[in-house]
Amino acid sequence: MENREINITESTSDTIEVSNFGITKDGQTINCYTLKNKNGMCVEIINLGGIITSLLAPDKNGNWEDVVLGYVNPEDYLENEYYYGAIVGRYVNRIAGGKFTIDGKDYFLDKNDKTNALHGGGEGFSHKIWDVEILQNTEFPTLRLSYFSKDGEQNFPGNLTTTVFYTLKDDNSLEISYEAQTDKSTFINLTQHSYFNLSGNFSEPIIDHKLQIHADKFLPINSSLVPTGERRPVHNTFFDFNKPKTIGEDIFNDDEQLLTASGYDHTWIIEGLGFRKAASVYHEKSGRLMEVWTTEPGLQFYSGNFLDGKFMNKSGGKNEKRTGFCLETQHFPNSPNQDDFPSTVLKPGEKYTSKTIYKFSANKNLWKL
Ligand code: GLA
Repeated sequence: MENREINITESTSDTIEVSNFGITKDGQTINCYTLKNKNGMCVEIINLGGIITSLLAPDKNGNWEDVVLGYVNPEDYLENEYYYGAIVGRYVNRIAGGKFTIDGKDYFLDKNDKTNALHGGGEGFSHKIWDVEILQNTEFPTLRLSYFSKDGEQNFPGNLTTTVFYTLKDDNSLEISYEAQTDKSTFINLTQHSYFNLSGNFSEPIIDHKLQIHADKFLPINSSLVPTGERRPVHNTFFDFNKPKTIGEDIFNDDEQLLTASGYDHTWIIEGLGFRKAASVYHEKSGRLMEVWTTEPGLQFYSGNFLDGKFMNKSGGKNEKRTGFCLETQHFPNSPNQDDFPSTVLKPGEKYTSKTIYKFSANKNLWKL
């Protein structure tokens, strides 16, 4: 892949710039789109997997630093085994046994995670080249990404047209809106898989970040990390984040669920309906605060348990276990095989929609306990 240093930058609008990022193994061009708002906040997105490769957020002294994990070598985004920053689909998270039945027909998926299908199979939306359009005459810089997934791709039924809008607003929030339509009944569950480290130093573990999740229940998992179907109250468990606490406060406890996932890798059932706040994360030293708002019923909080130091990080060290966390808004994992979970079926004539916002600000004294 070409080196990013030699980019020729061509300006297409005041607020979105396009540059060359590299090429795929089969010769497709990877472009980088830089969205900038009036405050100087910058987000870089590539057309490979709709990946956010960089996101600058302000600290309490007004310094802008990158807060998303990524690779140092652009070529590593092709494989992207950790799904850094990607749009994940057609079905994020796990489908037990890599199979489901729809309209009386059994479908067998790519079992790319032991016995399960994970993140839409080995070649999911996160690894595809998307069509990108820079929307004109919008209030804020907006990118429109679309991907056409053929009937039978990764063994999912239905020709599926997916559109994702990234909008960088002036309140320093990044809005991600999803839409999809199919010509055959199928299952769909999309998310954004960015790993955050609000310290701006990717060698510092995220266990000192204070997290609040607005959820009274979470979904316990079995040994292959698939929800058992139980909705367990968080009250009196290490999974209660209603009152903000550091990620590290309870993570090292000898708890069956924490041991199973080597940390947190669970879905919380977000209180309320409609577009509402699901979670907030505060990093006291930098003063950075991130809020997550969503229309989705669930939030997967993943504490970066599989990060294994294989890749360099942007700060010069390695991306080790717990140097980043994900807050993935989504429907529940394995819903195709759990009738009492909210439905993830999309039928012809229907429109799938979903919206999530990650909002960044800085505050000197928040949650000082
Ligand atoms: C998700 C899952 C994790 C893991 C990562 C990718 O967040 O919940 O179990 O598979 O993706 O490494």
